[in-house]
Amino acid sequence: MVRERIEELRRQLELHNFKYYVENAPEISDFEFDAMMRELQELERAHPEFADPNSPSVRVGSDLTAEFQTVKHRYAMLSLGNTYSLDELHEFIARIERETGPTDYVCELKFDGTAISLTYEHGRLLRAVTRGDGVQGDDVTANVRTVRTVPLRLRGTGWPDYFEIRGEILMPYASFDRLNAEREANGEQLFANPRNAAAGTLKQQSSAVVAKRGLDCTLYQLAGDDLPFTTHWESLEKAREWGFKVSDAARICRSAAEIDAFIEHWDTARRELPFPTDGVVIKVDDFAVRRQLGFTAKAPKWAVAYKFKAEQAMTRLDSVSFQVGRTGAVTPVANLEPVLLAGTTVRRATLHNAEQMALLDIRPGDMVYVEKGGEIIPKIIGVDLSQRPADSRPFEYITVCPECGTPLVRYEGEAKHYCPNQGGCRPQIIGRIIHFIRRKALDIEGLGEETVELLYENGLVRNVADLYDLRAEQLAPLPRLGEKSADNIIRSIERSKQVPFQRVLFGLGIRFVGETTAKYLAEHFRSLDAVMKATREELVEADEVGGRIADAIIEYFAEDENLQIIRRLRDAGVQFEAEARELASENLAGRTFVVSGKFSRSRDEMKELIELHGGKNLAAVSGNVDYIVAGENMGPAKLKKAEKLGVKIISEEEFFAMIEGGGPVEKAAQQELF
Ligand code: IVH
Repeated sequence: MVRERIEELRRQLELHNFKYYVENAPEISDFEFDAMMRELQELERAHPEFADPNSPSVRVGSDLTAEFQTVKHRYAMLSLGNTYSLDELHEFIARIERETGPTDYVCELKFDGTAISLTYEHGRLLRAVTRGDGVQGDDVTANVRTVRTVPLRLRGTGWPDYFEIRGEILMPYASFDRLNAEREANGEQLFANPRNAAAGTLKQQSSAVVAKRGLDCTLYQLAGDDLPFTTHWESLEKAREWGFKVSDAARICRSAAEIDAFIEHWDTARRELPFPTDGVVIKVDDFAVRRQLGFTAKAPKWAVAYKFKAEQAMTRLDSVSFQVGRTGAVTPVANLEPVLLAGTTVRRATLHNAEQMALLDIRPGDMVYVEKGGEIIPKIIGVDLSQRPADSRPFEYITVCPECGTPLVRYEGEAKHYCPNQGGCRPQIIGRIIHFIRRKALDIEGLGEETVELLYENGLVRNVADLYDLRAEQLAPLPRLGEKSADNIIRSIERSKQVPFQRVLFGLGIRFVGETTAKYLAEHFRSLDAVMKATREELVEADEVGGRIADAIIEYFAEDENLQIIRRLRDAGVQFEAEARELASENLAGRTFVVSGKFSRSRDEMKELIELHGGKNLAAVSGNVDYIVAGENMGPAKLKKAEKLGVKIISEEEFFAMIEGGGPVEKAAQQELF
């Protein structure tokens, strides 16, 4: 019964996933889709024995740590020759046609992401591997499975039993903007462009994080022995039928003039695309002609990339100003004489940090080159020294905070300067409050950035705990507020006391503790007290928490001012404990467990399963423990201790059987079950 339902849900979800993400023609509402997905996830969670690595639920990822294995490509992943010049491109075509006579080309967009090779066996996704050095790459299958446009099972018929398909993992601009906004709010380093963000995301350790980043995948090349096609065009059409996302920008071009027209069109039209491109790829269509042309050591002789020029402009650097963020990080910003670049007027550009500025020897008054390449924020790529004024002096970076005058500091391993005056520096104080009230944190509606500034100017708030002392009659007389808004604000502050613990933890604004880390910390420790008491060793046991994050957490709770704020928030009634879980069964009720070693899922997931079925987790082996669930590589010391104390040791399979049945099954019976 359960198994059939799981299968049916998987089939339905796969179909609607394809309709939504690949065909852009959804047939059911998001609500219905989410409800089915939730049902599937719940069934799979409570029935781990029906797990399938290609279930549509993997699209949401897991927090299993992926240690990437290096895999040799069966067919090398070559690069492409490239050119910025139409003359060179015409020469390339002339050379081909001297050798083979007139032939057809397929022109495609050159997608600006990171290359991926997908292997399918019997119509199911077997592996996804990065380009690496072209000969071998990293196995990133778990992460790629979360990308909605990658089919896990193929549609239609006629696919070879074994083949590879290559393409690009892309981060659309919308996902990129969202990701960077989030990172900025969390005081994390921004990704310079969608390409870096896509590549960085693929190498994430947690596929649950990958799942949320909104990656996309476009395919453009098949590889295999005896592919059943004679032309590239045909292979693209088939790939589309099998459920792959294949760009519909591709065209067959029969002459240099047609290729030129394709390039000319996309050099401007690409600005309207929702994802980044950096050129056009021109490929010989006919496989027989391709074979005739062959390869150089590095690249095929039958294809070339024509790259679009990044648009540049020259303008004057008027002055440099400095922004101080919520975490105290200082960013230098170039104020430019306005200049038109790639369709928009550019007035400001980031200068990154002191080192970058020194490297380019940038000085106010200089004529500078501004470029808007793949990057969203324009950058200064150089200085025209011939136009430098005679009285110009090297730029001296600031040594004190432009907002509060405190001497700036540099932390080891960080390029930026920081203002350490957390408690007294205006943009940091206001920034922290704004972070706290964000939708993803305490979600205090009616309180925007301007209102927070207003409250600060009027001496009503100095930290987030002050919000909970506000009274409507203090707010009503302030400009732009009035009684109605004042009441709304107070009501929404009141409501924020119900916001779950994980969002409160995120809202505190501990350095490096973003939304996801806060969620993992809350799941692992379940209360603020437990997080505060945890040692560095205990902190890094939570998923996604490394030494750097653990140190930042310890540092945060070592500050008296923070402890006071926490005490006041607690008194106000803000949630400092995770909600109790709804049980999936009571099959483990009254029993205590220690999980140790490696399992087919992460340890935190195993612990969650224990609680989900009514059991209790204990941290260390003692006489109070009923069972040790032993995975691979369980420490020998623990094993010895358990044996000495007479604690029962069970395998992962026996554990799953307990979840199903109520008691650990005997070894013989278990053979039949699995
Ligand atoms: S074909 C042997 N087609 O560009 C030919 N590549 O500079 C293999 N790329 O590594 C590549 N869009 O990551 C091809 N439509 C497209 C492409 C494309 C982007 C990337 C790909 C490749 C790099 C070569």
